[in-house]
Amino acid sequence: MTISKAQSRRRFLKQSAFGLAGFASLPSWLTAAVDIHGMPLLSPRQASKNFKPDVEFELVCQDVDFPILAGQKTRVQKYSAKLISGPEHTITDIPNSFLGPLIRLHKGQKVRIHLLNQLNEVTITHWHGLHVPAEVDGHPMYAFGPGQKFVYEFEVVNRACMAIYHPHPHEATARQVYHGLAGGIIVNDEEEAALELPTGEYELPIVIQDKLFDTSNQLIYSPGMHGNMFGFYGNRILVNGQPELQLDVATCAYRLRFLNGSTARIYKLAWDDGTPITVLGTDGGLLNEPENKPYVMLAPGERLDVWVDFSGRTIGSELVMRSLPFSGALPQMGMGMMMGSRYGLPMGSDYAVFTVRVVKKVGDSPKLPAMLSKIAAYKISDTANPNKPVPITISEGHMQMLLNGRPHAFNDVQPIERIPVNTIQLMEIAHDNSGHGMGGMHGGMGMGMGRGRMGMGGMGMGGMMAMAHPIHLHGQQFQIVSRSLDSSRENAYETVKHGFVNSGLKDTVLVMPGETVRIIKPFQDYKGLFMFHCHNLEHEDMGMMREFSVE
Ligand code: C2O
Ligand code: CU
Ligand code: CU
Repeated sequence: MTISKAQSRRRFLKQSAFGLAGFASLPSWLTAAVDIHGMPLLSPRQASKNFKPDVEFELVCQDVDFPILAGQKTRVQKYSAKLISGPEHTITDIPNSFLGPLIRLHKGQKVRIHLLNQLNEVTITHWHGLHVPAEVDGHPMYAFGPGQKFVYEFEVVNRACMAIYHPHPHEATARQVYHGLAGGIIVNDEEEAALELPTGEYELPIVIQDKLFDTSNQLIYSPGMHGNMFGFYGNRILVNGQPELQLDVATCAYRLRFLNGSTARIYKLAWDDGTPITVLGTDGGLLNEPENKPYVMLAPGERLDVWVDFSGRTIGSELVMRSLPFSGALPQMGMGMMMGSRYGLPMGSDYAVFTVRVVKKVGDSPKLPAMLSKIAAYKISDTANPNKPVPITISEGHMQMLLNGRPHAFNDVQPIERIPVNTIQLMEIAHDNSGHGMGGMHGGMGMGMGRGRMGMGGMGMGGMMAMAHPIHLHGQQFQIVSRSLDSSRENAYETVKHGFVNSGLKDTVLVMPGETVRIIKPFQDYKGLFMFHCHNLEHEDMGMMREFSVE
């Protein structure tokens, strides 16, 4: 579809007449037209002359045939990168992996990235976990077409952490991530360096995904109605892009950087011999001190920094990381449980994720530091709204998953979604169990769900359909203040609750059915539109996404 300049100008003026406040915060390089979703048609961002990068690289998205399974290659979408200037170690390919290369950045660096779209469709990349200006945050309105280039420029202001880069185009995020467009970013800083944690060959990314292959080794992605509601699940676990990954290690300490890159699958990770999982950090970097957990929950979009010491283990011994059984994450309805099990690997069942094999002896090993960092906990009194938390309400209905009762739409910011810049906000993520989720704004679209069904066990449709949602907020990391649970959900919750790391800085939090999570989040430095959404990517693409206008 081509829109003439005059036409688009008219559409813009028409839209402006309705007072699109969002446009006020848009950068000046936008061209004033809107597409069929009401998103502006923008020309891709160019490099600015005043920005002097310390690191500059090209990142290409393209279709490639890649060997994953024995036999025929698999058609994937892949990121690859080429360093233009800056430290050599900035880009490292993960061996034998279709995943994007590991990008290593340092706090304080100025980064320029030339994103080249060589796919046959629009895309845009988001730096999940990095605190960057809105115009380089990968908002879907900046999606750009094949053959074009989008230039990102930002300074790394995050502390040491692991972030993710992945696409964020309107209604196509899940499919592009599933087909391979995802990679890890490791940010380093001085505080972390002083700890002398394992590095180099002793620091390994562990990117976990699930895929479904057809008999000619091609990826199947067909969520359909059930997959959109409950998530799409594969039957093969890939770690760093490889099935049945086996890591050969030495008899010393390692630092494993976990990232759940699945579209919907949640893992309950544990070592098979009962060794506790020693957590060093979460989404936003190091904890104040290491924490031992019997198992850890890892939902899509979440990261974990894990210490494991193989000193004293015998050569030839093996250790398996498994995902252990848990319940409650999917509705207890036939349909929901079926989804994961359709091809034989239900979410919440017991299966191996990867294997470690001790193959060589080394003399000494780094020691686990007793203290890692000194992050002060926010207090309720630090927030601008101690008595009036900003709501993030999850509505679950038969055909729609919503936040704050509305599907994602551009320029649809509601009063509660406007946040004054440089404030710290108390927020409350909760399920809408009123049965009114489909009522209110979308009464007409509720297809008989909403109010009509409220009688059932006092839960309404929302309660019946309740499932776990990893809720992700763009921008700065938040702290978890409290988690509280509807008592009818206690049994299922018992199977997951010891695996939550609640003490660190987070950007994605798994909210279980019946659970209410209070968080405190800063909105500093940058004005503009910042998304918040479910990181079950099928849900995100269904519209379970809203945006905050930071003004
Ligand atoms: Cu990792 Cu908005 O997403
Ligand atoms: Cu993000
Ligand atoms: Cu969700």
